[in-house]
Amino acid sequence: MPKVTIDGHTLEVEEGTTILQAARMIGGEAVPPAMCYYSGLETSGGYCRTCIVEVSKGSEKDPRPMPKPVPSCRQVVMDGMEVKNTTSPKLLEARAGVVEFLLINHPLDCPVCDQAGECHLQDLSYEHGLSKSRYEFKRREFEKIDIGDKIKLHMTRCILCYRCVKVADQLCPGRVHGVINRGDVAEISTYIENAVDNEMSGNMIDVCPVGALTDRTFRFKSRVWFTKPVNAHRTCETCCGRVALWLSGDEVLRVTGRKDAYGELEKDAEGRTGWICNTCRFDKKNEADWTIEGPRHIDRHSVISQNHYETLKQLKIDISRQKKLSEKAHNE
Ligand code: SF4
Ligand code: SF4
Ligand code: FES
Repeated sequence: MPKVTIDGHTLEVEEGTTILQAARMIGGEAVPPAMCYYSGLETSGGYCRTCIVEVSKGSEKDPRPMPKPVPSCRQVVMDGMEVKNTTSPKLLEARAGVVEFLLINHPLDCPVCDQAGECHLQDLSYEHGLSKSRYEFKRREFEKIDIGDKIKLHMTRCILCYRCVKVADQLCPGRVHGVINRGDVAEISTYIENAVDNEMSGNMIDVCPVGALTDRTFRFKSRVWFTKPVNAHRTCETCCGRVALWLSGDEVLRVTGRKDAYGELEKDAEGRTGWICNTCRFDKKNEADWTIEGPRHIDRHSVISQNHYETLKQLKIDISRQKKLSEKAHNE
């Protein structure tokens, strides 16, 4: 099995594993950001370039470094490969350049964006972004349009990651939307406005890494950090029926799939991605429709986890431990 070292952590992986997958096995700081790769979608990745890494040693056989940063979601690990993610200033500078390009046309209107609080582009802008744009030309502008009775498209926020197109291709037979035009005039579009009505189409909202595809039943109802996420399930003939409910009091404001630390839907024991159908997502908005399993763990340094009951519980434990330690030190 090939051995790879990422930011000083060495591990053995299966043949054919990409650098990104290997990094996720290590976890933490070693994991590059990924705005277009999505493990549940075939052929995803290779569009956004946020996952670039520096390969400082190609392999045991050919130890020469790779001349340019490589997208870790596409580059397969080779035996003896050495990779730098956060440990290379040169790479971090290159990634900041990628972020700058992503933000050329992006409005960064986080205060009014439904994705705020769970947006990896927001995190990237904070970590790598400049305080102002060097771009001097007019930005692209689009009207907000409904691409289905439950989905609104804000094309200005789209980063053309192609994830929603892969969902349409792989989950929704008879796909009616995709990317039209190329280069700086490329855009997501439907053949006929309002045409997306497939029963699995709501998954496009879950995979969209930014606030470009929004849930019309939730838009502007609440900031996500004011909601209380819980795990819930129901018996559904169309999908897995395993969801996250985003509650305000007893009111179900939003239903989504269950996302992991990388913003991807969790997989079951057989490795199937937890896609959910539109009936579960849009039509089951009563608590009584669901069996509530318990509070949802928000495993990111996210604003959603701030003031979250889990965090508060941990905080209480930490404080009481600290108190006991200082009492002990005082008595000694
Ligand atoms: S998509 Fe993300 S970065 Fe863009 S406006 Fe919305 S929250 Fe901000
Ligand atoms: S609408 Fe969202 S999911 Fe679709 S390409 Fe744009 S950013 Fe990606
Ligand atoms: S996640 Fe690798 S290119 Fe987008």
